[in-house]
Amino acid sequence: MKKGWVILNGSLLILLLVVIGMIVFVQRDFTHRNLDFMPGMVSSIAYKPQAPWQEGDVGPPLVPGTVVRGFEPFEYKPTPEDALRAGRELTSPVADTNIAALERGAAVYAAMCQPCHGPTGLGDGVITKRGFPPPPSLFADNALNMKDGQMYHIVTFGQRNMPSLASQVSRSDRWNVLAYIRSWQSKQQQKGSRR
Ligand code: HEC
Repeated sequence: MKKGWVILNGSLLILLLVVIGMIVFVQRDFTHRNLDFMPGMVSSIAYKPQAPWQEGDVGPPLVPGTVVRGFEPFEYKPTPEDALRAGRELTSPVADTNIAALERGAAVYAAMCQPCHGPTGLGDGVITKRGFPPPPSLFADNALNMKDGQMYHIVTFGQRNMPSLASQVSRSDRWNVLAYIRSWQSKQQQKGSRR
C-alpha cells in the first residue's frame, strides 16, 4: 500500500470517530431553542400597525388624522349639543328623488323603526302597548323642523329613551331611512293637518 493511502484512510477514520463521538457525546437538548446559524429574516421585531410612532421605529410617523383603512370617522359625541352641531354640519347624501333609496328606506323603517315609531309614524308601535314610553310623532313640528344631520345623530347615538341603532343600521341605510321619513312627512303635509 502506498503511504498516501495510509494517511488518507487514517485521517478519514479519525474523522469518522470524531463524528460518531460527537453524536454520542453532544446530546441535543430539545427543551431549549437551538442555535441559529445566520438566522437572516427568520424572526423580526413585530410592529403593531397604527401604533403611536416612537423614535427608532421603522417607517415615517403617521400623518395626524390618519384612520384605519375602511373606517369612516364620525366626529360627534353622543350629546344634545353635538346633535345640534351635526344638524348644522351634515347634509344627506341621498337625493329625495332617489326611488331606490326611498324603497330601501321604507324597508329599513319597517324593520328597525316601526316597532317603536309605529306603522303610522305617530309613535304607536307594538312595544308601546307593552309599556315602552311612546316616541313623539314623526309629523309633529319638532320632527318636521329637525335638520337631517340631527336625525342622523339621533339614529346613530340614540336620544333619551331611543337606543343607538348604529350597530344595526348601516350609515347608508340611516340616510335612506331618513330620506324615506322626509318623503313621508311631505306626503302627510300635502294631505293636510295629520299630526
Ligand atoms: C326602541 C324604540 C325605538 C326604535 C327602534 C327607534 N326609535 Fe326613534 N325614538 C324612540 C323614542 C322613545 C324617541 C323619543 C326620544 C326622546 O325622548 O327624545 C325617539 C325619537 C326619534 C326621533 C326624534 C323625534 C323628535 O321629534 O324628537 C327621530 C328622528 C327618530 N326617533 C328616528 C328613528 C328612526 C329613523 C328609527 C329607525 C332607524 C328609530 N327612530 C327607531 C324610540 C325608538
